[in-house]
Amino acid sequence: MKHNFKKIVFFGFLYTNVILTIKIQAQAPVQLSIRESLPGLTISKYIYGHFSEDLGRCIYDGFWADPSMPVKKQGRIRMDVVEALKKIKIPVLRWPGGCFADQYHWRDGIGPQGQRPKTVNTTWGMVTDDNSFGTHEFLELCSLLGCEPYIAGNVGTGTPKEMEDWLEYLNYNGESALTDLRKKNGRDKPWNVSFWGVGNESWGCGGSMSPEYYSNEYKRYSEFAKNYPGTKLKLIASGANGDDYNWTDVVLKNTGLWNAWGISMHYYVVVGDWGHKGSATQFDESEYFHGLKKCLHIEGLINRHSAIMDVYDPEKAKALVVDEWGIWTDAEPGTNPAFLYQQNSLRDALIAASTLNIFNNHCARVKMANLAQTVNVLQSLVLTDKDKMLLTPTYYVFDMYQAHQDAMWLPVQFSSPDYVYGNEKIPAINASASRDASGAVHISIVNLDPAKIISIKTSLEGMHFKSLSAQVLTSQKFTDVNTFEKPFTVKTVEFKGARKQGDDLMVEMPPQSVVVVELK
Ligand code: AHR
Repeated sequence: MKHNFKKIVFFGFLYTNVILTIKIQAQAPVQLSIRESLPGLTISKYIYGHFSEDLGRCIYDGFWADPSMPVKKQGRIRMDVVEALKKIKIPVLRWPGGCFADQYHWRDGIGPQGQRPKTVNTTWGMVTDDNSFGTHEFLELCSLLGCEPYIAGNVGTGTPKEMEDWLEYLNYNGESALTDLRKKNGRDKPWNVSFWGVGNESWGCGGSMSPEYYSNEYKRYSEFAKNYPGTKLKLIASGANGDDYNWTDVVLKNTGLWNAWGISMHYYVVVGDWGHKGSATQFDESEYFHGLKKCLHIEGLINRHSAIMDVYDPEKAKALVVDEWGIWTDAEPGTNPAFLYQQNSLRDALIAASTLNIFNNHCARVKMANLAQTVNVLQSLVLTDKDKMLLTPTYYVFDMYQAHQDAMWLPVQFSSPDYVYGNEKIPAINASASRDASGAVHISIVNLDPAKIISIKTSLEGMHFKSLSAQVLTSQKFTDVNTFEKPFTVKTVEFKGARKQGDDLMVEMPPQSVVVVELK
């Protein structure tokens, strides 16, 4: 290919207020084709799920404010946070962990708040937990958010009886002491909770089990997880750590997942190593590149876990549930390292957008995913500081991608140019597409290259459109973040770089950007 570079100052790239100094590579447009999916797969809305652990400032001082905090609250639930999350239609929220799930005893978190026992969160910072946020409060939060709850049950330090009782307390409407207790605590009707995790990371913080041992535990615990009238449980077995394919194989072989909805898999993008993960805000192009490379690695993990699942479940009846994912950096300087509070940059938004494209394109098997963790922990959507709240660059990706929820998946084919860094390269472009119930087609495209505009020519086989609109998320630097002083540095704006050409769609992808185009 002939390379023809020229350095220019590029004004605004047809969208607002951005002045970028970039290199342009003259090249033929990338040919992208979108066609109908056969037999017609739906992108589950649960792929757009979230995770809120009793960890650091996620629940306490995140969702759950001090009574004296001068913000709009329902009880102690922060309504500014709720309203922001409602706007992006979060479909499901996972709680109470994470590692915390296997040390949580649900009876500590019910009854009059002042009378609940104080416990120590030995997993996350040895802090005292007054248990004022428990079962009733979590389910009230889900109801305010308009989302489904996903509760992770305690296998590590609990018993099958404790899990059985919790489910009866939640889901039974008949005559029993636990029904009476729920009513006495202020909830008349059962909640009909269906998503239920049988432990969390049982290979590690959930009990350091072997897959053989966990398989037996899964069978024992799930045997007592009953379907009370009106609620069919969707059990989720504790799954693999990243590339631990043996875990998936052994658990499927030993349990057949016969009574399960799915099995989980956890994968975090760690740019350095676990001792020095790297800064969330101070990083160079090497860390940018390697963060993105590690993000794209998840597709290989999904392929290989899915191939193992296909052996036992060729009909793809069971879900691969990526119930923890996202970038994990060093905690912000000056904060408690056990609280995992990190800032969120444009790089992290590109990681979210690329990962969601991968999930969309694997929607036959990936039916739920939960980004870690919603507020003030890891790759958050929302950060709070006393009464202030900001939306992170990652929030805007979930906002832009809403249209994919429960939409018909449309396969996208193309050959991506490379983003080359030193001797390494990754595909610069990734994309996914869907058609919603109204017939509108949405195409989400990511350009990971920090220096090149990439032209894309999209043909839509058998589809015609009359009008288009588009949004873009980008910024001058990939390290850009939103702060409490400057909360709108990175945000979505209208995009004018997409146009109709005959029956084709032409898109000029700015460097380091996410674009979502709507065709009607
Ligand atoms: O999200 C933080 C922790 O990461 C979770 O508690 C655990 O499940 C995982 O190791």
